[in-house]
Amino acid sequence: MKKLMIVNGPNLNLLGKREPNIYGSLTFTEFLDEIIEKYPNVKIDYFQSNIEGELIGKLQEVGFSYDGIVLNAAAYTHTSVGLGDAVKAIETPVIEVHISNTFGREEFRHQSYISPNARGVILGFGLQSYELAIQSFL
Ligand code: DQA
Repeated sequence: MKKLMIVNGPNLNLLGKREPNIYGSLTFTEFLDEIIEKYPNVKIDYFQSNIEGELIGKLQEVGFSYDGIVLNAAAYTHTSVGLGDAVKAIETPVIEVHISNTFGREEFRHQSYISPNARGVILGFGLQSYELAIQSFL
């Protein structure tokens, strides 16, 4: 059975009530339950943190044993050299995802420290971005 880890960064715990016009009105737990049910032959684990070091710790923890990581580093995408280095340091391939099309938004969201070391980037498809990333590992 393939082992995949979804890692969500800051403020993504507020999905469902955070700017629903941009991020939708589904909570991540609701979405995750659907996905886990839809892919019974894949082990899909989930981790969310608002703390940069905890996100780096999780990447290091799973990054030599899991088959794939789906990473939405949220705001840290645009600021964190440390997370970018972690993606580079681990062996497990990382797909960078974003719910919104970050290139259609403010200019500071056009920069990503994750992309250069990610296997691929999927953005702008709402929560479906995560599912497309999962499918890419299957
Ligand atoms: C986001 C886009 C980021 O710019 C933002 O800081 C987020 C969410 C997205 O999924 O669209 O928190 O990563």
